[in-house]
Amino acid sequence: MADITVHDKRFSVYLSEATLQERIQELAAAINTDYAGQKVYFLAILNGSFMFAADFFKYLTIESEICFIKLVSYKGLKSTGDVTTAIGLEEDLHGKNVVILEDIIDTGKTLHFFLPQLRHQQPSSLKIVALLHKAEMTRYEVPIDYTGFVIPNKFVVGYGLDYDGLGRNYKDIYQLAEG
Ligand code: XMP
Ligand code: MG
Repeated sequence: MADITVHDKRFSVYLSEATLQERIQELAAAINTDYAGQKVYFLAILNGSFMFAADFFKYLTIESEICFIKLVSYKGLKSTGDVTTAIGLEEDLHGKNVVILEDIIDTGKTLHFFLPQLRHQQPSSLKIVALLHKAEMTRYEVPIDYTGFVIPNKFVVGYGLDYDGLGRNYKDIYQLAEG
């Protein structure tokens, strides 16, 4: 498949549409099994996870609700890290089975600092589904319960993921090309 150019950089196909869809079906099947007979409240993290969440959601057969939140992590100002919600959570999570849908976990910073805010609401359970995990980059503890693909430390775009705002509109996931 042909390379793409996003801004000034060239990217090559890394995970094809077929590979992604097959794995997403498997992830959804695992959730359908693990939560059989229960209701789940999915929390998708914008912007990157919008495509993943839409496809994943179609494969669910359990009772499912979904809402979208937008997290912004400010880096560099404070060593502790600061995650604020740009679009917040409207519903109370108390007593709910909550499952977070993330496109990619890199350093883990975003979710590490956001999880306590969710736990504070005392959901009856809280689990994380990450389509991609840059495992070698993860510095902050994040308990990932379901992982789509463990990937190397190379920048990826497509399927909702962007490079400086562009590149989200591809069906495949692309990796920064060498050289
Ligand atoms: P962490 O886990 O470091 O990740 O808090 C924060 C956010 O960074 C974005 N991210 C990427 N986005 N290609 C992207 O398009 C990448 O390779 C990449 N790595 C990290 C992503 O939004 C994640 O939620
Ligand atoms: Mg993200």
